[in-house]
Amino acid sequence: MTGQRGVRIAGVGHYVPKGVLTNADLERMLDTSDEWITTRTGMKERHVAAVEEPTSELALAAARNAIASAGIEAKDLDCVIVATVTPDYQFPATGCILASKLGIPGVPAFDIEIACSGFIYGLTVASSLVRTGVFNRILLVGAEELSRIVNYEDRSTAVLFGDGAGAVVLEASESDSFLASELGADGSNPKHLYVEVGGTAQPPISAEDIATKRNKVVMNGREVFRFAVTKMIDATTVALGRANVSPHDVAWLIPHKANRRIIDAAAKHLEMPSERVIVNIERYGNTSAASIPIALSETVAAGKLKDGDVILFVGFGGGLSWGAVAWRWSGSVKAASNGKPA
Ligand code: ACO
Repeated sequence: MTGQRGVRIAGVGHYVPKGVLTNADLERMLDTSDEWITTRTGMKERHVAAVEEPTSELALAAARNAIASAGIEAKDLDCVIVATVTPDYQFPATGCILASKLGIPGVPAFDIEIACSGFIYGLTVASSLVRTGVFNRILLVGAEELSRIVNYEDRSTAVLFGDGAGAVVLEASESDSFLASELGADGSNPKHLYVEVGGTAQPPISAEDIATKRNKVVMNGREVFRFAVTKMIDATTVALGRANVSPHDVAWLIPHKANRRIIDAAAKHLEMPSERVIVNIERYGNTSAASIPIALSETVAAGKLKDGDVILFVGFGGGLSWGAVAWRWSGSVKAASNGKPA
């Protein structure tokens, strides 16, 4: 099939693991305080996966909910995409493992690795694949276990990250929900936010690397903070301009959750009142590629989205990378939990 047609989100779902790491827990582990974490980040707790629960398991639970929400079966999907920086293995792609766990081996499946921008890039790629007729129904999942790559001895990062997964089913549609997208990346200084060893830029990982935690996340927080505020504003402005939509016509801003202060600064610039900004950072921390689809799924479950609402998704993260998608919500979508319609 060729030629342009529309795309819509037909189903949403999310899942977070049962384990919870609270600010009080972190106070016992590190030289930090609930007061510092709350005022500087907005975070109160985050979820942590069990050792025997790999990223694909979180993705699977979120995917089952999205599939139930769409009122379809896994066999109705013709592509599976997972956005993650914490895959089950270096390779094969977690998307391949997820498709197999869903009982649909043979369906094309791949991963997108662009850190916290993963869902925004994935939404743009998947929408394009549907709109151009390559696929009819794509499962897009953002799934992360950042707890596996966080240094719990480094208070500047340990308090920030959590685990979880969010999923959407995108399907061909007569009306078009995808209004516009703006993506960007600048890899000229990867050290602002990265994991130093474990890839090919450095010698093979050694026992000393592990002892000194060089296999864990390192971040220049102040630099990333500045970048994040600027890029959120720039990307949303460009995406809205391309979509020919005024910020005042945006019903919902669903941003990546890295820091409450970053979101507040960007929302203020966009003149978005707080009741139209979806923030759940206090319960999940930063779940990277999962943060936007988890928030979307919760927003659907709360019955907030109405047919025709314009949603502005915006994210940023390692790369450094950034992006925004302007989206018109279409149809009625029901939430699901435990793989069943709610
Ligand atoms: N508890 C107590 N004190 C702390 C903690 C902590 N958990 N962490 C840092 N501090 C201290 C610092 O040591 C510093 O002390 P000093 O003044 O004695 O040196 C002081 O607090 C202030 O440190 P800053 O780094 O200036 O604190 P800031 O207000 O910038 O907040 C933070 C730090 C929360 C990391 C912020 O910079 C931030 O949110 N940055 C962006 C994070 C982000 O967007 N990450 C994206 C990740 S996305 C991805 O792709 C994975």
